[in-house]
Amino acid sequence: MARFLFVTDLDNTFVGDDNALRELEQLLSKHRQEHGTKIVYATGRSPVLYQELKKERNLMEPDALVLSVGTEIYLDKSDTPDAAWSEKLSQGWNREVVLSKTADFSELKPQPDTEQGQFKVSFFLEESVSERVLEQLKSAFSESGLDVKLIYSSGIDLDIVPTNSDKGQAMQFLRQKWNFVAESTVACGDSGNDIALFAVGEERGILVGNARPELIQWHNENPADHRYLAKNVCAGGIIEGLKYFGFL
Ligand code: GLC
Ligand code: MG
Repeated sequence: MARFLFVTDLDNTFVGDDNALRELEQLLSKHRQEHGTKIVYATGRSPVLYQELKKERNLMEPDALVLSVGTEIYLDKSDTPDAAWSEKLSQGWNREVVLSKTADFSELKPQPDTEQGQFKVSFFLEESVSERVLEQLKSAFSESGLDVKLIYSSGIDLDIVPTNSDKGQAMQFLRQKWNFVAESTVACGDSGNDIALFAVGEERGILVGNARPELIQWHNENPADHRYLAKNVCAGGIIEGLKYFGFL
């Protein structure tokens, strides 16, 4: 068995089925010890909400963290975000312009302060009006000449981030840093902000059985042999997918 790079979303992917989670953690710990496999959590959560979940679920220690939908990378248990990554994101990003453009939209309800980041402006946006509002936002940003990325997840969460930032690009950064080829890299997810993990290249992808409609729709529209839709939910689906690809 060879080492691999394991990248997983947390909510409703790694976390959600406690029994399966404990089994998966054991399998991964053993693999890390014996083969040097690396474990990365890639979540939309801020540092505050990540620590909350880690404590609540007693999650195993990862080798790196991708937080705030890919806008922050933490290596070697550091509590400051990787400077090279932040530097890359700061190019062309202007938080003030994002705030002033979004202020014109009454449908956008700001998320709590903890979920706002240097490179992440987040709102709640009702699904029923999301299509129209997202289109209008896109035009407003392109008129202002600001190149940002809009990431809509779970029929409620809207993240506005620098154009060269998402979970997928953060995964590529780590893959190159640690010298993993795409075939030895696997990403797992369940919702809209995970699409970037599956769209970035030829990495193996596992969609858990409880994946949200927005992800399933994208998967159906972009079929690929290197992506697997599991039958089992959450960590059980991850174990199923890791076996399917021969990682376990
Ligand atoms: C997490 C974050 C939230 C974000 C969402 C989707 O729930 O707390 O800020 O919008 O993930 O990325
Ligand atoms: Mg999730």
